[in-house]
Amino acid sequence: MNDENMFLQAEDLCKSFRIGSRRIPVLKGVSFSVTRGDWVALYGASGSGKTTLLDILGTLSRPDSGRVLIDGTDPASLSARALVAFRRKNIGFVFQSYHILPELNILENVMLPSRLDGMPFKAARARAAELLESVGLAGRMDHRPGELSGGEQQRAAVARALMNRPALLLADEPTGNLDSETGRGILKLFLRVRQESNTTIIMVTHDRGVASLAGHVVELRDGVVSQNEQKEEMKP
Ligand SMILES: Nc1ncnc2c1ncn2[C@@H]1O[C@H](COP(=O)(O)OP(=O)(O)O)[C@@H](O)[C@H]1O
Ligand SMILES: [Mg+2]
Repeated sequence: MNDENMFLQAEDLCKSFRIGSRRIPVLKGVSFSVTRGDWVALYGASGSGKTTLLDILGTLSRPDSGRVLIDGTDPASLSARALVAFRRKNIGFVFQSYHILPELNILENVMLPSRLDGMPFKAARARAAELLESVGLAGRMDHRPGELSGGEQQRAAVARALMNRPALLLADEPTGNLDSETGRGILKLFLRVRQESNTTIIMVTHDRGVASLAGHVVELRDGVVSQNEQKEEMKP
C-alpha cells in the first residue's frame, strides 16, 4: 500500500474493562489500516467491541496498549487542549445514542461544532440549514430534540457530524434506527460528502447487508480482526 494514501492506522489495540474485581478484555490486539477516502464497515455481533474501538479511533478514549495514527498524528502525543482542537477539526461523530443537546433546537445543535470552531454565525446557519435539508429535516429546524422521533434525531446527528467537513467521519450504527429507505438516504449522503471532500468513512454496523455495501469490511470477533476484506463498493 502506498504510504502517502495511508490515513488511519490501528496498531495492536488492546482494551479491557474492570467489572468489580474482574477484568474483561474486549479488544485483544486489533490492527488494520485505512486509506484516505476509504469507506469502511466495522462489522461484528453485538458486544464484540465495535463502539469501544470506534471511541478509541475517535480519540474519545485511550487504548490500554497499542496506538492509533490519524493522518500521521498520534493523539496520545497531544496535550488535552490540543486533542480537543484536533478532534473538532478532523473528526465528525455520529454516536449510537445521538448525544443531541436537549436544550438547543435542531438547527442550533447542528451549528454548534462550527461555532466552537469559529465559523461566523451566518455562514454556520446557512450550512446547517443546507445539511438539515439534505437529511430531510428542513421542516424541523426549530424543534427541540425531544419533539423528534429517534430516526429524526439520528438524521440531525448525521448533519451535525458533517458540519465541519471532517476528514474522518465515524458513525456508530448510523442506519440502526432507521427504516431501510431512510438508512439508504443516510449512506448516500455519506458518499456524496466523501465525493466532495475525500472524507474517510468508518461506519459501525451489526447488519451484514449494510456492511456488504462498503468497499472495505473489517470484522471484529473475539477481540481481534477476524476478517479484513477490500472489495468493490456497492451503491446504497
Ligand atoms: N465502560 C464500560 N465498562 C464496562 N464494560 C464495558 C464498557 N463499555 C463496554 N463494555 C463491555 O465491552 C463489551 C463490548 O461493548 P461495545 O464496544 O459496546 O460492543 P458493540 O458496540 O460491538 O456492541 C461488552 O461486553 C460491554 O458490556
Ligand atoms: Mg455499539
